[in-house]
Amino acid sequence: MDNRYQCILVTGGAGFIGSNFIRYVFENTGFEGKIVNIDKLTYAGNLENLADINEKYSDRYVFEWVDICDYDRVEDIFKRYSPDAVVHFAAESHVDRSIHGPKDFINTNVNGTFNLIEAARKFWQNRFEYTRFHHISTDEVYGSLGDTGYFYETTPYDPRSPYSASKAASDHLVMSYYHTYGLNVVITNCSNNYGPYQFPEKLIPLMILNMLDEKPLPVYGDGKNIRDWLYVEDHCSGIWAVLNRGKTGEKYNIGGENEWHNIDLVNKLCEIVAEKLGKPKDYFKRLITFVQDRPGHDRRYAINCDKIKNELGWRQSVTFEEGLNITVEWYLNNKKWVQNIKTGKYLEWLEINYKKR
Ligand code: NAD
Ligand code: DAU
Repeated sequence: MDNRYQCILVTGGAGFIGSNFIRYVFENTGFEGKIVNIDKLTYAGNLENLADINEKYSDRYVFEWVDICDYDRVEDIFKRYSPDAVVHFAAESHVDRSIHGPKDFINTNVNGTFNLIEAARKFWQNRFEYTRFHHISTDEVYGSLGDTGYFYETTPYDPRSPYSASKAASDHLVMSYYHTYGLNVVITNCSNNYGPYQFPEKLIPLMILNMLDEKPLPVYGDGKNIRDWLYVEDHCSGIWAVLNRGKTGEKYNIGGENEWHNIDLVNKLCEIVAEKLGKPKDYFKRLITFVQDRPGHDRRYAINCDKIKNELGWRQSVTFEEGLNITVEWYLNNKKWVQNIKTGKYLEWLEINYKKR
């Protein structure tokens, strides 16, 4: 059993993957320590994602409202909790938003990451052997593929959006702390995730919710761009394997080995939602609308993840069919979560909770 750490500092744990990771660790790994979740609670951070965990593990789970761009707050967290591992998810994560407003991406993804590794370096001096900084990154740093080929850990970086450029910068920064200072770092580069609690600006939840509202289903360009989809819990198990058993200073790709043209995926989602709602198979397909392409839209992503499979024995455990069914059902069954996002009510939690203190 992987149980190396006593206190894991998770950044961005109120977001999609971070919240799934915290749940995964408490419920699936036998982890006996504490998790401190620091999050700025941007539009993408939602503490409702962890309401159950907050209650069930109140003695071992703590939330702190922290912007990682604030170095003093970050250092204070290290001093107060003495984490022996950091799993760094916090980021601005949506490519389209990075095109319309890149500044937040540079601030959080580059400067925020710098603050964290600086604090880690300072706080962990002479203890690098017993500590670990795990940086969560993306396959988008590798750029865009043609019809053939795969991204390997050795593929040169070629980011093409402000989002992927900011992630690439942070990857380089993190790796430089390994080479220069000997900080115990690992990086994982993952393909597109999907599953419960994903903010409905991303393709899969956006399409599901638009179907429920009978709104147009906007497909960028010709719909032939390809993404490699991975169920979020399988990403979490990969992170856990690398955090505990990955080699210091190494990168590991994590992927679904599951490539889909966007248009085929949207058609498939239409059929799943129609079936669950008792509608005719093609009922929602009339809503598919081709819209202007995303500028600089990467054509194809495809991950080779042989390294994590061969070295750490990691495998995907959820088929796309199963994962999509679970995901669609989750959005159908969690109407309050969806409603609170649509109305912005989930942001009110902040006001309600923090005014009392
Ligand atoms: P998300 O947008 O759902 O969540 C990001 C979280 O970070 C939110 O809770 C937000 O409030 C928090 N945050 C943002 N700025 C912050 C700041 N300055 N200080 C503290 N917290 C801040 O993102 P996600 O999809 O869960 O992605 C998490 C990580 O995984 C990101 O680093 C992303 O690059 C990476 N990643 C995502 C995918 C994917 O498909 N979603 C795939 C590969 C890698
Ligand atoms: O590959 C990993 C990356 O996957 C992560 O690093 C990012 O954080 C995450 O947002 C995701 O990036 P993408 O740009 O691939 O995901 P998104 O869901 O935004 O889009 C998936 C594909 O669908 C992409 O080709 C653009 C297209 N798309 C997206 C939206 C939101 C549409 O055609 N219509 C849409 O409305």
